[in-house]
Amino acid sequence: MNPVITGPVIGGHQLGRRLGYPTANLAIPADWPVQDGVWAARVTVNGQTYGALGYVGRKPTVEHEGKRILEVHLLDFSGNLYGRSLRVELVQFVRSDQQFDSTDSLLRQIDRDKQDIIQILTSCG
Ligand SMILES: Cc1cc2nc3c(=O)[nH]c(=O)nc-3n(C[C@H](O)[C@H](O)[C@H](O)COP(=O)(O)O)c2cc1C
Repeated sequence: MNPVITGPVIGGHQLGRRLGYPTANLAIPADWPVQDGVWAARVTVNGQTYGALGYVGRKPTVEHEGKRILEVHLLDFSGNLYGRSLRVELVQFVRSDQQFDSTDSLLRQIDRDKQDIIQILTSCG
């Protein structure tokens, strides 16, 4: 069974929007038994399900001793998710969390993650 978590979208630091990958952030139990890193995900909101890029971790590239959170970037969605309740299913692990030396390098990696995740989600229906 894939890991699933449901919860309201909480505020982030808005950097994602500047990076071109706006993310919805969800609180997670500190001991949620899920590997930190990038996941192919599916997100259900308002009865609609979207493919998504999922990230679990403390954002070592942009934060020092940040809180462990879940972020999702929904594919083919535009709109405001603040305050909404999301159901997130982690479908497949893609790569480990990493500390990049610049947000540019992080962004280039997220571009690659997106291609990998689209392939994964397409091949598993
Ligand atoms: C697909 C994806 C992969 C990510 N990978 C990493 C990572 O390897 N290392 C990291 O420090 N942050 C990673 N992040 C988190 C970004 O640092 C974060 O989304 C960005 O800083 C915006 O955060 P904010 O929404 O709190 O502003 C990733 C985010 C996404 C969506």
